[in-house]
Amino acid sequence: MSFPSLLRGSAPQPTPDSGSGPVVAFEDAAVAFGQRTIWSSANLELGPGEFVGLIGPNGTGKSTLLRVLLGQVPLARGSVRVLGQPPGRGNPAIGYVPQRRTLGADLAVRGFDLVMLGLVGDRWGFGPASAAERHTVEEALEAVGASAYAYRPVGLLSGGEQQRLQIAQALLTHPRLLLLDEPLASLDLKSQHEIVHLVERLRVERCMTVIMVAHDLNPLLEMLDGIVFILKGQVVAGSLDEVVRSDLLSELYDTPVHVHVTSDGHRFVVGA
Ligand SMILES: Nc1ncnc2c1ncn2[C@@H]1O[C@H](COP(=O)(O)OP(=O)(O)O)[C@@H](O)[C@H]1O
Ligand SMILES: [Mg+2]
Repeated sequence: MSFPSLLRGSAPQPTPDSGSGPVVAFEDAAVAFGQRTIWSSANLELGPGEFVGLIGPNGTGKSTLLRVLLGQVPLARGSVRVLGQPPGRGNPAIGYVPQRRTLGADLAVRGFDLVMLGLVGDRWGFGPASAAERHTVEEALEAVGASAYAYRPVGLLSGGEQQRLQIAQALLTHPRLLLLDEPLASLDLKSQHEIVHLVERLRVERCMTVIMVAHDLNPLLEMLDGIVFILKGQVVAGSLDEVVRSDLLSELYDTPVHVHVTSDGHRFVVGA
């Protein structure tokens, strides 16, 4: 299923050089590790500037789906294209925040250096950063609002501050597609909302397509154009109206889930 009608009025228009084709296109795609199929029947098209949530219980293959787009996991069947091309490793058009590893309190490296690693980390010998590289890092730190604490040890920063640094690192190449793997996990409610609003602002400013893997839908509901979920090994895409329903979410999570709709039309998901 595609989201052609879901692109909201607020979504930025693609610039002439950004191409008008889909940013992500899966066609009857399936992934298997050995004999075990993780998911199949992925038919999905995402356009420029769309923001989708990718949800489902642990182990259903959400991270794997992102890794397919990154060229790290091959398809067993079907096809996938990112900006019209087959996935390839190190694609600068993709920004990626991997599933969170909590950074230890003893991590003495500064935020600035952590983000700089995203630029020069694979350069042999590392060496001093150029003025242009330092500028690129400063710009990314500014974009995520992390300049004020960029020179403090990362291990002493809050979860939300650390997450901003990871997002800054993902922005270094000015990606057209931003993949965020559970960026809200283990953040308090306030930080969750701040990160969601940050991502939303960046999406609009930079006309990025965003796929965010999430457990709790509530912080995201206001922002999403659509939802992708993996149920019984099938990848399914739908609008919020189609997906954010008590029956479907209860089946997806295999536990009673209730969707409340407030008088002004806002949805709220309550787990049993
Ligand atoms: N490289 C791999 N080799 C074998 N099995 C894998 C590999 N990567 C992931 N898996 C398995 O695929 C399933 C989906 O994993 P994952 O995509 O991480 O799920 P999720 O992100 O939804 O929790 C899991 O059962 C996991 O153990
Ligand atoms: Mg995962």
